[in-house]
Amino acid sequence: MCGIVGIIGREQVAPLLVDALKRLEYRGYDSAGVATLNKGVLDRRRAEGKLVNLDNLLKEQPLSGTIGIGHTRWATHGAPTVRNAHPHTTPRLAVIHNGIIENFAELRSMLEKDGYVFETETDTETVAHLVTRALDRGLSPVEAVRQSLPELRGAFAIAIMFKGEEDLLIAARNGPPLAVGYGDGEMYLGSDAIALAPFTDTLSYLEDGDWAVLTRNSVAIYDESGMAVKRRIEKSAGTAFLVSKGNRRHFMEKEIHEQPEVISHTLANYLDFSKGTIRTDAVPVDFAKIDRIAASACGTAYYAGLIGKYWFEQIARLPVDIDVASEFRYREMPLSKDSLALFVSQSGETADTLASLRYCKQQGLKIGSVVNVKESTMARESDSIFPTLAGPEVGVASTKAFTCQLATLASLAVTAGKMRGTISADDERRLVHELSEIPRYATQALKLEQQMEAISRDLSQVKHALYLGRGTSFPLALEGALKLKEISYIHAEGYAAGELKHGPIALIDEHMPVIVIAPYDRWFEKTVSNMQEVAARGGKIILITDSRGAAASTLKTMHTVILPDMPEIITPIIYALPIQMLAYYTAVFMGTDVDQPRNLAKSVTVE
Ligand code: AGP
Repeated sequence: MCGIVGIIGREQVAPLLVDALKRLEYRGYDSAGVATLNKGVLDRRRAEGKLVNLDNLLKEQPLSGTIGIGHTRWATHGAPTVRNAHPHTTPRLAVIHNGIIENFAELRSMLEKDGYVFETETDTETVAHLVTRALDRGLSPVEAVRQSLPELRGAFAIAIMFKGEEDLLIAARNGPPLAVGYGDGEMYLGSDAIALAPFTDTLSYLEDGDWAVLTRNSVAIYDESGMAVKRRIEKSAGTAFLVSKGNRRHFMEKEIHEQPEVISHTLANYLDFSKGTIRTDAVPVDFAKIDRIAASACGTAYYAGLIGKYWFEQIARLPVDIDVASEFRYREMPLSKDSLALFVSQSGETADTLASLRYCKQQGLKIGSVVNVKESTMARESDSIFPTLAGPEVGVASTKAFTCQLATLASLAVTAGKMRGTISADDERRLVHELSEIPRYATQALKLEQQMEAISRDLSQVKHALYLGRGTSFPLALEGALKLKEISYIHAEGYAAGELKHGPIALIDEHMPVIVIAPYDRWFEKTVSNMQEVAARGGKIILITDSRGAAASTLKTMHTVILPDMPEIITPIIYALPIQMLAYYTAVFMGTDVDQPRNLAKSVTVE
């Protein structure tokens, strides 16, 4: 994940910026840079690789100035080179950015037509020229930013410093976190409390759509409509240890909200956003030579694998056998050396999954693992690693790791389709574009938080619940039921919606809430007709759909949650967010230990 810091202060800021960036190293990065303003001169230093390289460069070529911005970059658009490292500059400003500007290509061609010359292939440079153009048209820095932000589409956090304005920093947030730190005659910007801990423990976290204007003695925050707003000023943990809850009550809540950012970094590992193609160099497996995938995982990771099965079979026409790891090896499934054994695990230490991996290794299969911990046992014992870049996941209930597993599996399915020739170049471009929109849709889905909290108040009163879905929403129904039961202790079951009439419908009465996951996709009509059976028996339906689904549904529901219309392939990832928030807030109302539910461990290292 990229890291952002900004200081508008009294001391020389360059070494302070680097120290703050060092506190963000846990987020992962491949280049870094700082820029300062000093007596009218805007200057920058950037280096590839670790921060020590930037430190050494600054020792040789120091930067002066008491105002500056710093950035650690996780490459999404453009290789991890000095040229592409942030800050990006024009003669009038310097900008740093975390996230993805989805419409960077159209903005770039518009700006090039207006005579702006690009030096890099990054989406960030688009922001630099867009704001510069507004300045060149005579607007003030604040008005230039106010006018430019609505033109950006995607999930992003940015900070901008303006030549000739040595008492001004402007920042904006839509997705990846960004905090304003308050000092005495100094102000700060940071991706989280950890970066700012050496300077201040008094912070405001910007909300999605917010932008902020900082001077040494003032902070003005505006919402996306441009209205001035107040954001809570709070004390962060003074000793913000490596992984902090930020301004959230629980790690699970924080991790739910990190998803737009960590999914964008996971996708960047597999997709070339600049070219709109798959990065086949990131996948050390030739799927054209694979006859089948034998997959196994546990819990939430297993449900991710179940969804991945649909994608591999539909996109790459590659058969997938998947089983829970505790059953996998006892089935003695016939395995061929041309099969890929695929394991999905957040921790990379789950004993059942590891045992299945070793069983397949003994059978001579190629071993691939989708893991979140690169130095884990599973990673070390695999031939190929497909990393999820969710960052440390502390909450026992897996959230961001799940959606990063899905982002990885979807990217692998498209890669397999490309290698096996089951998708055209146009299909590849369309699918890569659709996947690149996930962070933006995830940011929008998180805005349902208040509605999900309200629904959770009802759900916290029940003793049982059913989750239903069809197609890729069926494994998501299983995941939703697991999320609810493991943190709220309410008994919940997930079913294929078509299975209801084969038994579970006997459970339906006015005391049984039924959460129906039904985007308006190819399975919608059948799911809604199943739901008529539920409604006819007094079942309380909570329908999670989109505007087309809500318009087409004739169901009488207790609640209807409406997500944006979106491409079918990304629905399981985006619909996971309201499902997670439903479980989270229900547990909060139940007063359970959300991050450390009873009887559970974050990694089950016993069989
Ligand atoms: C998910 O919320 C649970 N904590 C649990 O089911 C978990 O997914 C399972 O134990 C697998 O863990 P892993 O991904 O680390 O292998």
